[in-house]
Amino acid sequence: MRTPLIVGNWKMNLTTKEAASLVEKLRSRLSDTKEVEVALCPPFTSLETVAKTCKGSGIHVGAQNMFWEDQGAYTGEISPVMLKDLGCSFVILGHSERRQFFGETNENVSKKVKSALKHKLIPIICVGETLSQREAGETDRVCREQLMESLEGIDNLEGNEIVVAYEPVWAIGTGRTASPKDADHVANFLRLILANTYSARTAERVRILYGGSVKPENIVEFIAQPNIDGALVGGASLKADSFGEIVRLCVI
Ligand code: PGA
Repeated sequence: MRTPLIVGNWKMNLTTKEAASLVEKLRSRLSDTKEVEVALCPPFTSLETVAKTCKGSGIHVGAQNMFWEDQGAYTGEISPVMLKDLGCSFVILGHSERRQFFGETNENVSKKVKSALKHKLIPIICVGETLSQREAGETDRVCREQLMESLEGIDNLEGNEIVVAYEPVWAIGTGRTASPKDADHVANFLRLILANTYSARTAERVRILYGGSVKPENIVEFIAQPNIDGALVGGASLKADSFGEIVRLCVI
């Protein structure tokens, strides 16, 4: 039985003061939803504030990206050691906005995944097709390639936790979503890849999230799918009411 996981991806939003205020509001809304695991991924600048404000609540904290080296002359980058130091337990890797605007490649994602695992950060590996890829019938191929290449060189996931997020690029921030059945098809396909690459046991253990315009109005249908274990939530994670409601609706 996989515990549902709801991750808030705040993207480039909220000052430290706004972040603390959102967490305060969430704490009271999430106090009776312990069956669902929750992680908040604010910008780097709010990580410390969010980690402190979450203390004792059971809410996890994650980053939206990181570099793969521990330290050194990499201007503008943040290392896994720094994230651990601030209390992070998750890190989103390979988000489509990073692929689209910042040149993130599967090769880079794979270095970051290895580094995250080395530092006991749980990588949330994002995969997903663009609209033209979907229309060309390439969804499975693209997602397979992104997942396999992101896990390149990792022979075994025993003792390591990863999370996979299936986020169709055309569904992110657009108000359009994949149909729950289509999303479950891809999640099932990704789980089969994990079973073939690693083992049935590993595949059964890995949580696969859906992401792309998730809101209180549609979460129930997604979480009801057998292969979808939660959601990566962007826009709706910036409001305590909508994010709190999404989490509440995942309590079985
Ligand atoms: P959205 O973003 O919920 O605003 O569509 C999801 C994401 O990018 O992770």
